[in-house]
Amino acid sequence: MIVDGRHRVPGDKSLTHRALFLSALCRGESSVEGALTSLDARSTASFLRALGVQVGPVRPGRRLRIRAPKTLVVPNRVLDCGNSGTTARLGMGLLSAQPFAATIDGDRSLRRRPMRRVAEPLRAMGATITTPESDGLPVMVQGGSLQPIEWELPVSSAQLKGAILLAAVAGAVPVRVREPNGRSRDHTERMLRVHGYSVSQDADGWLSFVPDGQLRPGTFQVPGDISSAAFLVGAATLATEGEIRLVEVGVNPTRTGFLDVLGRMGCTVERRAMTQWTGEPVADLVVRASQLQATEVAANEIPGLIDEVPLLAVLASRAEGTTVFREVGELRVKESDRLTLIASNLTALGVEARAEANTLWVTGSDRPPVGRVVTAGDHRIAMAFAILGTLENASIQIDDLQCADISFPQFLSVLLGLSRDESSSLPGLRSG
Ligand code: S3P
Repeated sequence: MIVDGRHRVPGDKSLTHRALFLSALCRGESSVEGALTSLDARSTASFLRALGVQVGPVRPGRRLRIRAPKTLVVPNRVLDCGNSGTTARLGMGLLSAQPFAATIDGDRSLRRRPMRRVAEPLRAMGATITTPESDGLPVMVQGGSLQPIEWELPVSSAQLKGAILLAAVAGAVPVRVREPNGRSRDHTERMLRVHGYSVSQDADGWLSFVPDGQLRPGTFQVPGDISSAAFLVGAATLATEGEIRLVEVGVNPTRTGFLDVLGRMGCTVERRAMTQWTGEPVADLVVRASQLQATEVAANEIPGLIDEVPLLAVLASRAEGTTVFREVGELRVKESDRLTLIASNLTALGVEARAEANTLWVTGSDRPPVGRVVTAGDHRIAMAFAILGTLENASIQIDDLQCADISFPQFLSVLLGLSRDESSSLPGLRSG
């Protein structure tokens, strides 16, 4: 594929969830510009509607309006989070400070994801949370008045950290949290600072939140999602020729780890037109077709590129040499067991790849990828492998490419739009 042009990616998923959750606590009308309109974003909108928050229609190109009541109301139904782990976990934090009981559930994938790691600190703050024997969902949260905690997280996780911070804001209590192996995305912290709260990190990695701010309704502007941009960056890297520019993408340094790894692999992505939107850095990304070499991705890099491991592994399958990803065990409890699926799908396409315990190895080759990809309904697995379908002589059948809608509506047409010859299909890629 020869690529060119300027392209836009959908709004940032993490920021959209957080802007919605915080707006639900700002009595009055707030709005979100550039919000993601994917299935996961709709899950958060419907979660909040059940709590009495008026959330306008979630439609592309429309400013999203949120009108929060004086107090949240008891939901008259189970709060279904669909496939969205961020909705469920941040939702647990929000509910922990409410004086009523509510039940959170999700689809088959979300039901198997660990929730005890979220429930434990929230219980220590004073909420009563019932989790199933198997961990996962459904969970019942009975909130109430909360107390301060100092908590060492078992894994670096922005959903976990965000749940504790959201409970602390809603319950107006100070908290201190520490992440064990590198800092996860800091969107919640930045957004709280915009509302005037003190959120700071000391030299030992303890993050302190003080409830000294004030939640006021306002407008939040969401840039493009770098985790969605990553797939287009990947396609441009593997292109035979050309350059693309992805406009107005969020480049928060806790999210750009994959750009550092790509740089070591031989593809330098330029950031142009740097600016700042509601506390978040934003830039255009310029990417050129490149030859890739293998690299080693260290344990402390993982929190900053957690969602990009499937894509980087796919790119590593086209690089010279063997790429190693250290301490990627957390990928086993994402929307699917991503670690197993990355290795088994690459193997099915004729690539040498192995996942053992918490390590992943991928050896690059220039043979055309041919075979069938199993996604288990995981959007990022589907999109990562779709990128290989842009290669000449590829023949890839993906069992479900529609699941890209979870985070990236219109993914396939945006991917096709990168091509200079405006072809209407990718001959090397089939879905179903
Ligand atoms: C997210 C945090 C990450 C990431 C997910 C979104 C967030 O999960 O994988 O896609 O918005 O907080 P973990 O916090 O579980 O690592």
